Amino acid sequence: MSDSETILFVKDLAVGYEDELISKINLEIRAGEIIAIVGPSGIGKTTFLRTVAGLVRPLGGEIFRNAPKRGGIGYIPQKLGLVRHTSVYHNVDIGARSGTPFWSEPLTWFQRRHTRVIDAINRMGLAEKLKEPVRRLSGGQQRRVATARTLAQRPKLILADEFLSELDDDNISIVLDAVKEYMKESESAMFIVEHNIQRATEISDRLLQVSQGKLVEYEVNNAVLQLEPSSGEQ
Ligand SMILES: Nc1ncnc2c1ncn2[C@@H]1O[C@H](COP(=O)(O)OP(=O)(O)O)[C@@H](O)[C@H]1O
Ligand SMILES: [Mg+2]
Repeated sequence: MSDSETILFVKDLAVGYEDELISKINLEIRAGEIIAIVGPSGIGKTTFLRTVAGLVRPLGGEIFRNAPKRGGIGYIPQKLGLVRHTSVYHNVDIGARSGTPFWSEPLTWFQRRHTRVIDAINRMGLAEKLKEPVRRLSGGQQRRVATARTLAQRPKLILADEFLSELDDDNISIVLDAVKEYMKESESAMFIVEHNIQRATEISDRLLQVSQGKLVEYEVNNAVLQLEPSSGEQ
């Protein structure tokens, strides 16, 4: 995998608001990689993801994103931000509408958009819920809608904040297998914030932890990690 394309390169990055939360972040993520970030709550994991997504201004350093400016980075927030009274289709179409350019697909704008929506809905196993208002779905299904919305965008980098935490084991396999398949086809990469270190170890190629204001590669045999007891685990 070492000769695969660099998707994100981060140099001496500092993230935070008034004060730095995490500083001197140096990191490279390549196509096909899943990187998990663990650490106690309030330490700046979400802020880091939002900074990479371009939603929070960095306090220092540089971010190089090898992804289309439009739609190239897909962010699945912890609070999903779905439109609850409209259909699954409508919510996923929001992703397709703001997605990466369609140049290589020889159809009209509406056809291409529709194709992306249906493809993402199928990947997430939601075909039968197409017309269902989102508010009628279970928490796990809503998370799949949010994931489909991001896949419909066809991003090169997926940023997922605690997105497995409310899912049961069946839902986790559906979501993970589908996302991995998408990543393989599109040669994209993924950052995932995960409070459950066991799960993070299982799903990721590399594990990073936030410790004393730094993002460091986690060594599995090195028991420096202190996570708070997780409450919402299934
Ligand atoms: N928009 C904001 N403005 C100022 N401070 C914030 C903002 N969002 C979060 N914070 C603070 O930044 C710290 C880190 O938050 P966050 O990145 O959400 O941590 P984590 O995801 O690791 O739980 C917290 O102390 C939080 O209160
Ligand atoms: Mg967070």
